Amino acid sequence: MNFTNHFLLLMFQFILVLGHATNPGVQLKIQDKYVVLDNGIVQVTIAKPEGYVTGIQYNGVDNLLEVLNNETDRGYWDMVWDEGGNKTTAKGKKGKGKFERMEATNLKVIVENEEQVELSFTRIWNSSLEGKHAPLNIDKRYILLRGSSGFYTYAIYEHLKEWPAFDIDNTRIAFKLRKDKFHYMVVADNRQRFMPLPEDREKGRGQILDYPEAILLVDPVEPEFKGEVDDKYQYSCESRNNGVHGWISSNSSQPTGFWLITPSPEFRSAGPLKQYIASHVGPTSLSVFHSTHYSGLDLLMKFGPNEPWKKVYGPIFIYLNSLHNGESPTTLWKDAKQQMVNEVESWPYTFPASEEFLSSKQRGKVQGRLLVRDRYNKDASIPVSGGYIGLASPGDGYQFWTSTDDKGYFSIINIRPGSYNLYSWVTGYIGDYKYGPIINVTAGSEINVGELVYEPPRDGPTLWEIGIPDRSAAEFYVPDPNPKYINKLYVNHPDRFRQYGLWKRYADLYPKEDLVYTVNVSDYRKDWFFAHVSRKKDNNTYQATTWKINFNLDQVHTNGTYKLRVALASIHHANLQVENFAFIL
Ligand SMILES: *[C@@H]1O[C@H](CO)[C@@H](O)[C@H](O)[C@H]1NC(C)=O
Ligand SMILES: *[C@@H]1O[C@H](CO)[C@@H](O)[C@H](O)[C@H]1NC(C)=O
Ligand SMILES: *[C@@H]1O[C@H](CO)[C@@H](O)[C@H](O)[C@H]1NC(C)=O
Ligand SMILES: *[C@@H]1O[C@H](CO)[C@@H](O)[C@H](O)[C@H]1NC(C)=O
Ligand SMILES: *[C@@H]1O[C@H](CO)[C@@H](O)[C@H](O)[C@H]1NC(C)=O
Ligand SMILES: *[C@@H]1O[C@H](CO)[C@@H](O)[C@H](O)[C@H]1NC(C)=O
Ligand SMILES: *[C@@H]1O[C@H](CO)[C@@H](O)[C@H](O)[C@H]1NC(C)=O
Ligand SMILES: *[C@@H]1O[C@H](CO)[C@@H](O)[C@H](O)[C@H]1NC(C)=O
Repeated sequence: MNFTNHFLLLMFQFILVLGHATNPGVQLKIQDKYVVLDNGIVQVTIAKPEGYVTGIQYNGVDNLLEVLNNETDRGYWDMVWDEGGNKTTAKGKKGKGKFERMEATNLKVIVENEEQVELSFTRIWNSSLEGKHAPLNIDKRYILLRGSSGFYTYAIYEHLKEWPAFDIDNTRIAFKLRKDKFHYMVVADNRQRFMPLPEDREKGRGQILDYPEAILLVDPVEPEFKGEVDDKYQYSCESRNNGVHGWISSNSSQPTGFWLITPSPEFRSAGPLKQYIASHVGPTSLSVFHSTHYSGLDLLMKFGPNEPWKKVYGPIFIYLNSLHNGESPTTLWKDAKQQMVNEVESWPYTFPASEEFLSSKQRGKVQGRLLVRDRYNKDASIPVSGGYIGLASPGDGYQFWTSTDDKGYFSIINIRPGSYNLYSWVTGYIGDYKYGPIINVTAGSEINVGELVYEPPRDGPTLWEIGIPDRSAAEFYVPDPNPKYINKLYVNHPDRFRQYGLWKRYADLYPKEDLVYTVNVSDYRKDWFFAHVSRKKDNNTYQATTWKINFNLDQVHTNGTYKLRVALASIHHANLQVENFAFIL
């Protein structure tokens, strides 16, 4: 070794030593009823053996979680489930399901060294728990790394072959923050605001609107919110945009941010456009992994009595940041977004200790090119630019989505071994693409599926079209809200469709006669209401509404087949019927 190398080596060692000196090793203290993880930056307290997060100490604040809440109601994994198979069918209609916080009964220390502590809180199911707890083994994991400003959590759910059938409606992790500190909420660059307090939603201060989640603030503690609607559904995020959201506490000399970072959507259901509830009044932050919201029972996860299933949800990162020197608190949001980019770049993580979480080497890759060919429009194969394409395992497994580049090429990386279907859709073309063969991904595999050509369903030329088939109703007529039910955030905002009660504007616009659309005369941006809804009558019943589409055909093939194709953006608690194609010759 020459002198220069030696010198470099010494420098390197010096930096490492310095690193150790500034970031103390991770410490684990196991007490009677709690375990405490501490890396000198953040201290996390977890109830033993239940596995609830009861305390997060950071930036000189004793607990960022709501100390007024029961310890079971601060940081917890939960689930809405129901008994499945014939038990569900016997009830005829699904009820609300059973809510449980998946309380663990056993703690195991998985990793304990200066670099990392990983804990496992488990609940093992057996038939004595039938009907009381979802038939799942649950393993909730918490990880604290040296030098990390936050902690990770993931969970492994497992249903064994001989266990009873059941359904999962919803599962997530929830954090309830201190309401005296966290007042400013951020779900996106253009969706952030000071929020009302939870007591503003209570009787006297708030008035329930058409459903209990929607509250008109009649006498909020802070008068600035008076007259606004608060509704957690207004802050939902599409899965593709749901990488980071959270809260800022600016009411102290040291502003603090609390963020939930989801580095990969691989464990979420229903693809990139599925809307998930995020942060909302509480102050609450959620990472929702599965829900039937906005889609209804079609999205219920149903497990048969002989259906083994295992899935890893997470890890997600609970990231904390703070400011000094009088920087603007919104700097915390910028930093949280940068942290999300860092987490995405480190995915799949190398540190989770469960062998159920797979490293990059244990995963595979699928690539190819997507084109679209429509024989009544150019009849050539056109590369699909910016189209979503994804692998989904049959049943309720993992999904891996990406988007095509401007030449139609795509590369889906970090895919867990397994058998998958490949799906896509193309903006402007009706229908869904599904690749014929099942794709079997193995560790380290690189599968090239070559050129895939989507041929949308066609029976002949298009005679007319209303709107754009793109899984969104944004191009249609979105009314202004009733001035009595406004969320100020969404006034003159691209997401104004999130305002409360827009569906009721239909009955205001069409009090008696329903919508009639005349092809080539009407304009869908003004004349096609964005949602096909019912009309509420004075006697509190709902009346189905019938929309009519009028169109002229110069020539009618009396012995031909004409097809009407309908693409729906979303449907919940609704029944759509298409009937009566009346020709007036
Ligand atoms: C907290 O919640 C648990 C479970 O619901 C309940 O058994 C317990 O009594 C509650 N504790 C307090 C202090 O309210
Ligand atoms: C439901 O009931 C039918 C008829 O009684 C039976 O054939 C079927 O196996 C049952 N399914 C389950 C999941 O229990
Ligand atoms: C079943 O689980 C309960 C609750 O954890 C436990 O008390 C019981 O001993 C278990 N029974 C068997 C047979 O393992
Ligand atoms: C700031 O926090 C304190 C308690 O920590 C609370 O009493 C006060 O009302 C808060 N002020 C504002 C403007 O929210
Ligand atoms: C994938 O595996 C399934 C069964 O495991 C098999 O039927 C199918 O042909 C395989 N697909 C390919 C492309 O090899
Ligand atoms: C409610 O009123 C509508 C007409 O406005 C009527 O058609 C319907 O039968 C009424 N329903 C009930 C239950 O009274
Ligand atoms: C709409 O207008 C175009 C252009 O004038 C015409 O070719 C077409 O037949 C019309 N379609 C209908 C359904 O009225
Ligand atoms: C209608 O079309 C079918 C199939 O093309 C043909 O068999 C039938 O004879 C036609 N009927 C008339 C009335 O043209």
